[in-house]
Amino acid sequence: MLHKICEDRSIDEGSTKLFTVNKDDHNLSILIGRKNNILFACDNYCPHRGASLSKSQLSCENDRLVCYLHDFEYNVFSGKLEKIPEKWKDQSQEWKNSGDLMIYRIFENDGAIFVDIP
Ligand code: FES
Repeated sequence: MLHKICEDRSIDEGSTKLFTVNKDDHNLSILIGRKNNILFACDNYCPHRGASLSKSQLSCENDRLVCYLHDFEYNVFSGKLEKIPEKWKDQSQEWKNSGDLMIYRIFENDGAIFVDIP
């Protein structure tokens, strides 16, 4: 189902913004951002331990969002976990386990941004 989120000019290049979307009487926290002039949308919750990704930074070097809590790096377009920092190499595999970032299809139309939330 398509949800209108905001006006397209409200998301600057290299930035993210947090929005709340109501779906089936539940509030979802969705992070919208723009990288290399391409929009993306993902859940606000880090799939590692649930940190709020709205406090995290987009990398200057690639298409990754770097979680502020443990610095795991997720591709904002594919959702894939692409890097676990070397500093965690001695942590257990169980601790390092993480799913991928939940991403949503996103569209710009007539000056507005829409996200498809299944
Ligand atoms: S909670 Fe995000 S990297 Fe651990």
